[in-house]
Amino acid sequence: MSDHAEIILEGKSYKLPVVVGSEDEKAIDISSLRAESGYITLDSGYKNTGATTSAITFLDGEQGILSYRGYPIDQLAEKSNFIEVAYLLIYGTLPTQQELDDFSGKIKMHTLVNEDMRKILDGFPSTAHPMGILSALISSLTAFYPESLNPNQSKEEVDLSIIRLMAKLPTIAAWSYKNSVGHPVNYPKNKLDYCSNFLHMMFAFPTEDYEMNPVVVDALNKLLILHADHEQNCSTSTVRLVGSANASLYSSVSAGISALWGPLHGGANQAVIEMLEAIKADGGDSKKFIAKAKDKDDPFRLMGFGHRVYKNFDPRAKIIKKAADEVLTALGINDQILTIAQELEEAALNDSYFVERKLYPNVDFYSGIIYRALGIPTDMFTVMFALGRLPGWIAQWKEMREQKEPIGRPRQIYTGATERNYVPMEQR
Ligand code: SDX
Repeated sequence: MSDHAEIILEGKSYKLPVVVGSEDEKAIDISSLRAESGYITLDSGYKNTGATTSAITFLDGEQGILSYRGYPIDQLAEKSNFIEVAYLLIYGTLPTQQELDDFSGKIKMHTLVNEDMRKILDGFPSTAHPMGILSALISSLTAFYPESLNPNQSKEEVDLSIIRLMAKLPTIAAWSYKNSVGHPVNYPKNKLDYCSNFLHMMFAFPTEDYEMNPVVVDALNKLLILHADHEQNCSTSTVRLVGSANASLYSSVSAGISALWGPLHGGANQAVIEMLEAIKADGGDSKKFIAKAKDKDDPFRLMGFGHRVYKNFDPRAKIIKKAADEVLTALGINDQILTIAQELEEAALNDSYFVERKLYPNVDFYSGIIYRALGIPTDMFTVMFALGRLPGWIAQWKEMREQKEPIGRPRQIYTGATERNYVPMEQR
């Protein structure tokens, strides 16, 4: 294999080094191209462009492979728990029992948020979407911890910001839900584990505790693990880009939450359920909606289908589909929405339009069905995605800082008007 690429531009040859990753992925390093040739490259949506090198998550879209720090996602989903996976992503190794107890214990000591945050929360109308509240309140952490704005924080100070974010996002997320239903908020109970504490804050009432169901806690752990990182996706790239300007971790994650909200990205899990509900309300005719998804004149897309990287199957979707069956059975729930989803998947996977375009169910196609079964309301689904993706955002932001990457600033090709003189008003 050649260690360089050669391009000929206007009769001149340019040699560009080839970079090979630990999983044999190959890239042409074009960092010298503009200085040497005056040319840049163009790649709308960065479909073929690598933004960085990273040691956190590996995806193989053709083989349907996903691993965190080398550990296959199916093994982590079956054998690990979310806090252990968070430590793995952020610090690069599976923790010893002492390290895990220390990490988990520190998180438990920081789950409370400043009571002044409730004044910000109270300012939101009950109709506010929880993702908008979450992004705003995470950004407001910079007000309560102004030292986090220092780009030259020590390792200990960065670790404290990480602990605070891991600890407080679930509290803020649960409070945003309670705000949306007009219920009083629940305070964290630190004797509970991470997932149980979140369920307590979401569903307990002043008059009665939430009865913890191990099936629900296990399903939530699994879902959060499956969402924890996914290399340079839209929201993670946002976190890295904002962080590259020396913006704080809180500001960078707040921006990532806003990117995730988009229905083409993390907002798809909410859009999938809304789509399945629409199909159910319309009489359950999957084939009619498959036809709509194929119609170029119809803006309707099969939400939860397709992926920029996975072109055979999304390994997370396979695990979540199996978990959906198990959770609904264990909870004795017969949800027609699941049946519609399975029929829709079957119809699409046998339709040439989807097969030719390599469109398969992605992580969002079945996740909403489990969230529904756990009692989580639809407009909280993307908040759940953010809860899961948080350690990935943190790990990627930390890696970008540790790699001392430059501020992100892409180039462009200008296609606007060439130089012209100002026209006075009377001559327009
Ligand atoms: C996530 O990047 C990540 O890693 C993201 C994520 C993560 O963990 O962070 O995995 C999470 O965001 C999952 C994706 C959730 N989004 C959806 O489910 C929304 C529906 N899917 C799409 O909009 C789409 O598939 C994307 C956005 C996911 C991917 O879009 P691409 O890679 O830019 O592909 P494209 O839009 O150029 O589509 C290629 C073709 C087009 O048809 P042609 O122009 O070639 O004729 O496929 C068609 C598209 O019209 N197509 C679909 C479709 N998705 C793509 N047609 C119908 N229904 C769909 N869902």
